[in-house]
Amino acid sequence: MNPQPEWLQTRSTADDRGASYLSIQDVNKTYRTRNGDVHAVEHADFDIDEGDFVSLVGPSGCGKSTLMSMIGGLETPTGGRILVGGAPITAPRRDFGYVFQDPTLLPWKSVLDNVLFPIRTQKRVVADYLAEAERLLRLTGLWDFRDKRPAELSGGMRQRVAICRGLINDPRLLMMDEPFSALDAITRDDMNLALAKLWDEVHKTAIFITHSIREAVFLSDRVLVMTARPSRIVADIRIPFARPRIDTMQDEALFSEICAYIRDEIHQAHDKHVSR
Ligand SMILES: Nc1ncnc2c1ncn2[C@@H]1O[C@H](COP(=O)(O)OP(=O)(O)OP(=O)(O)O)[C@@H](O)[C@H]1O
Ligand SMILES: [Mg+2]
Repeated sequence: MNPQPEWLQTRSTADDRGASYLSIQDVNKTYRTRNGDVHAVEHADFDIDEGDFVSLVGPSGCGKSTLMSMIGGLETPTGGRILVGGAPITAPRRDFGYVFQDPTLLPWKSVLDNVLFPIRTQKRVVADYLAEAERLLRLTGLWDFRDKRPAELSGGMRQRVAICRGLINDPRLLMMDEPFSALDAITRDDMNLALAKLWDEVHKTAIFITHSIREAVFLSDRVLVMTARPSRIVADIRIPFARPRIDTMQDEALFSEICAYIRDEIHQAHDKHVSR
């Protein structure tokens, strides 16, 4: 076995479980289908501290979106429990925001109205949120486009609108499920920089799903690696780079070393999986 690299710090989930902001405790999810049971998530067990940006990486179908849906209260675990601030999650929470792969903007509404849409549906006072909408649109370079319709924007801009919409009600947790996977490589790099910059301003707890190891390492405080089903978390890596995150971080030897380490973890887990 290789010696552990000296930068490697993993988070122990054994101590202080109750004190974390979000605690995922031995969570399972089995879907009952006509063709039998699908064990989408098995024994997911980890905590997330408030303010951490945590990425989940793992092969397609390993249960990342299912896990996120359970944290969001959209699906119920078939075993285990998920606690937020010590209380179990039983229904979708208003203090969580979501961003999905498809930005799902309303085509007939302007950028500004799309960002404010959750405020309207939650029957809050829109005027109270105009300043926050402006702040978010300025931070993401979209303020000059506030009156445009989604069809007039590029894919990257639409996804930035979706991120602003996810942040408008000042959520305690923002969940992003592969928000950039439909974008071309150059736009995606730009989006990573934009999101890192935004995070330096908003300082929120985030769960971010991606298939890109580089994206995960660049953006995150912590990267959790999931295996193929029945999925487990096989690595939990704290990323030892300071914030603000800058583009040149990706040229550093340590950055490539961490990416290679995560890739190895995924491959080793995959090899074990297929040889079982
Ligand atoms: N509603 C459902 N009913 C039955 N099976 C489901 C349902 N939702 C997900 N699954 C199954 O659960 C497993 C995990 O799916 P999930 O979408 O969570 O994976 P994922 O890691 O997000 O994949 P990807 O990276 O492709 O998005 C898959 O085998 C999927 O087919
Ligand atoms: Mg998914």
